[in-house]
Amino acid sequence: MHEDDVYFDERVAARYDESAAEMFDSAVVDSVIDLLVELAGSGRALELGIGTGRIALPLAQRGVPVHGIELSKAMVARLRAKPGGEDIGVTIGDFATATVDATFSVAYLVFNTILNLTTQEAQVACFRNVAAHLKPGGCFVIEVGVPGLQRLPPGETLLPLYVREASWGFDEYDVATQGLTSHHFEIVDGRVERLSIPFRYVWPSELDLMAQLAGMRLRERWSGWKREPFTSDSSKHVSVWEKPAV
Ligand SMILES: C[S@@+](CC[C@H](N)C(=O)[O-])C[C@H]1O[C@@H](n2cnc3c(N)ncnc32)[C@H](O)[C@@H]1O
Repeated sequence: MHEDDVYFDERVAARYDESAAEMFDSAVVDSVIDLLVELAGSGRALELGIGTGRIALPLAQRGVPVHGIELSKAMVARLRAKPGGEDIGVTIGDFATATVDATFSVAYLVFNTILNLTTQEAQVACFRNVAAHLKPGGCFVIEVGVPGLQRLPPGETLLPLYVREASWGFDEYDVATQGLTSHHFEIVDGRVERLSIPFRYVWPSELDLMAQLAGMRLRERWSGWKREPFTSDSSKHVSVWEKPAV
C-alpha cells in the first residue's frame, strides 16, 4: 500500500470535508473556479490529488471536463457519492507517475498537495508528468504555502497550526532535509487520536527550476486566487507555469 492510502484512509476520508470546512466555503472555492475556468478555456482540466471533489465538482458544473488522479480509494468513494461525482473520470495512482490517455489545457495541484511528495525526485517527476499531459500552450497551477522558516526562531523546530477546544496541530520542520511533519491531535470519544503526515517543503524558486527541468516556464505568480500580488510577506502562492506553444 502506498503511504498516501495510509494518510487519506477511510477514517480521514470520512471526516475530510468537515475538517477542511473553511476550504469548502464558496468564498474560497469560487475564486479558484473562476481562474481555472479561464485557464481551461474550451479545453479539459486535470486535477492531481482530486480528493473528494472540492474543486473538481464545481469546475465540472461550470462546463469544464475534469479528470482526476488520486491514490486514495476512500477519498474517491466520497467524491463518487456526491451529485455529479460518478461523471468525473478518476485514475487511481500516484500523480508523480500515473498516466492518463488524454491531453489537457490546464493541470492543477491545490491545497499544498505538492508537499505530499516527500522527495525532490518525486516533485520533479510530478512536473515532468504534468508537462507530458499538457497541450502546447497549456498550463500547470500550484497552490502552496511559502515555507514558514521566517517564523521559526533559531534552533526551534515547531510552529503551532491551531489550538482548539478538542484539537491541536503543529508543524515540525527539519531544515537539513526540507522535511515538514504536520502533527494533528484530536480528542475523540475521550481518547486522543494522533495523525502525523510527512511533507517536503519547497520554495517558489525551486518549483520554477522543476518547471524548467520539465520544459515549462513561469507565467504568473500571485499570493492568492484573486491575483493578489506576491510579495516578501506572502504566506502562500498560486503559481502558473506554461508549456511552450511550439
Ligand atoms: C489535502 S487533500 C486535497 C484534495 C482536493 N484536491 C482538495 O483540494 O480538497 C490531498 C489529496 O491528494 C491525494 N494525494 C496525496 N499524494 C498523492 C499522490 N502522490 N498521488 C495521488 N494522490 C495523492 C490524497 O489522497 C488526498 O486526497
